Amino acid sequence: MDAVDPTPMPPPPLVIRRATAADADVQWDILRVVLAAGDTYAWPTAPSREQGLALLHPPGGHTFVAEREGRIVGTYFLKANAMGPGDHVANCGYMVAPAARGQGVGDALCRHSLDTARGLGFRAMQFNAVVSTNRGAVRAWQRCGFQIVGTVPGAFRHPVHGDVDLHVMHRTL
Ligand SMILES: CC(C)(COP(=O)(O)OP(=O)(O)OC[C@H]1O[C@@H](n2cnc3c(N)ncnc32)[C@H](O)[C@@H]1OP(=O)(O)O)[C@@H](O)C(=O)NCCC(=O)NCCS
Repeated sequence: MDAVDPTPMPPPPLVIRRATAADADVQWDILRVVLAAGDTYAWPTAPSREQGLALLHPPGGHTFVAEREGRIVGTYFLKANAMGPGDHVANCGYMVAPAARGQGVGDALCRHSLDTARGLGFRAMQFNAVVSTNRGAVRAWQRCGFQIVGTVPGAFRHPVHGDVDLHVMHRTL
């Protein structure tokens, strides 16, 4: 009998590519679940499909999806955080399908966005509203080199914890 190889199988590779119109249904599936939970984004909790997809495809921005074994498991957008003299700082928003969380997809999306932002000429990246109770996200972004540079007290009405803080997170590129 063959010995059982104890080495864990590496996860199937993740392919991150630009989103196309054909990805909209899956992006909407991910987005509406994230927003309905109401615990991570200061966005409408029950947007229309059109309104929700518009948030994922901001004007002048870039939207990507992550695929594993041909299935979309996450998505993110990248845009300038501000206009005019503030447009050298990028901003992103990431969402991973619930079943795919905790497997490094968010980390991979963030690292991809840092490379993409550098390639586009951005010099820093800023997240304006990371919910303080979203500990997995805060830890993931810190691992990707972000620091909490400020905290806005009670700026987010969490469905379970009530008014909680929002962190501004930043890193140079
Ligand atoms: C935040 C988010 C993008 C991270 O994606 P992810 O693929 O789960 O991230 P990673 O696998 O790289 O792990 C990040 C952290 O998630 C946490 N995590 C592990 N399993 C998890 C699970 N099943 N569900 C949620 N988070 C989990 C871990 O704490 C991990 O941090 P750790 O390694 O220090 O323990 C994802 O949870 C998500 O889409 N959440 C809802 C939307 C959101 O919060 N977006 C970010 C707004 S700032």
